[in-house]
Amino acid sequence: MPLDLVIGAQWGDEGKGRITDLLARKADVVARFSGGDNAGHSVTVGDQLFRLHLIPSGILHDHTHCVLGSGMVLNPVSLISELDSLSSAGIDIEPERLSISSNAHLITPAHLALDGAEENARGSSKLGTTGRGIGPAYTHKTARRGIRLEAFLDPEEHLAKYQQHLDQANRLLETVYGQPGIDIESAVLHFHEHASRIKPYLADTGHLIDSALRQGKRVLAEGAQGTLLDLDHGSYPFVTSSHPTTAGALLGLGVGPQYIDRIIGITKAFQTRVGEGPFPTELQGELADRLRGSGEHPWDEFGTTTGRPRRCGWLDLVLLRYAARINGFTELALTKLDILSGLETLMLCTAYERGGVPSTDLVGGPSTLDEMVPILEAVEAWEDDLSEISTWNGLPEAARIYVGRIESSVGLPIRMISVGPERDQLIART
Ligand code: IMP
Repeated sequence: MPLDLVIGAQWGDEGKGRITDLLARKADVVARFSGGDNAGHSVTVGDQLFRLHLIPSGILHDHTHCVLGSGMVLNPVSLISELDSLSSAGIDIEPERLSISSNAHLITPAHLALDGAEENARGSSKLGTTGRGIGPAYTHKTARRGIRLEAFLDPEEHLAKYQQHLDQANRLLETVYGQPGIDIESAVLHFHEHASRIKPYLADTGHLIDSALRQGKRVLAEGAQGTLLDLDHGSYPFVTSSHPTTAGALLGLGVGPQYIDRIIGITKAFQTRVGEGPFPTELQGELADRLRGSGEHPWDEFGTTTGRPRRCGWLDLVLLRYAARINGFTELALTKLDILSGLETLMLCTAYERGGVPSTDLVGGPSTLDEMVPILEAVEAWEDDLSEISTWNGLPEAARIYVGRIESSVGLPIRMISVGPERDQLIART
């Protein structure tokens, strides 16, 4: 009864969708556990590119049951539009294939408006949120004023609470933020429409996952965002409002740790971040542009959700070791190794210096990153295009040394290496 976790080891966008897509071939259930449509990943199948924000990429495999867990916050508009676009691409999205936790929280039009208003009010200290209402929805959840999706089971019964939520938000928007309130009448109308569309999918997903595990089925938990965006363990306050880590997976699925088999940390072969916040190995200029790509390819470093160009830099082994510690990774998967081909310079951050004192550990956590000066080591680069290589031994020696260097620095094996966007451009090592 194994539970495998796919966890982002960086600031999100590590290519988790690719790895989930591969592992989903052998999974019976694929589940998301935290965040909402702030996430986004692209999966290429043949000549079709799927951009998914909420529904696990496991939906692209006929045999899997997909779950949206209780740790998530869900915008019904995004959810319905994703269901519709999958359905028009011929993917079966019947409730027999998709269960949504009735304990997950609803993102309302009020949360979207508040996300924008709060971000504006921060001025030069803005966080660079995705503007999807994530923070305000989790704020209301924690304040015990949130609306769970269970409201869709009987919208009439929950209408008064919903209206009260919108009224309160409007008072805040108008009086504190000096912004127009939201149209309550139209929001109420949509509430009913969304309820009737989403109700058939609602379930006790914790029970569902537990039953599947007890029956010996394989469950795959698909993380969104990454460890360094974790509310507790990330670069606070430049974080998201949920827990995209191992502990968050158990919490957001409603299962215990006894089922866990693999905890796979996904890291890019370099480092990226969107939004504000510290980034010790960040590059500027030509090198950053080279890692980012021009934007003409779906895999270039531009946000799937917001289209924002991602900040790019060298792989940071101090942060990777930190992510391994927080999550208890049992192995790593390395993505986008092919992007490093042809670089004249290739660096790895092996330690930090703070006030003249070097350290290989991040004592003080990511909130101290602003004070850290990265110690970079040049490593041998390679010319060869990797995109057609399918075996470990087929990789150029310098690329193997690069991978080996990461493994020995973190103390974990790298069992999967992606060398291109297609499903089969992946080197699996035993
Ligand atoms: P929020 O999650 O929209 O509140 O945004 C908070 C921070 O997390 C911002 O810096 C976002 O850019 C970042 N963020 C949220 N979701 C993702 C993601 O899926 N990938 C990368 N960054 C993300």
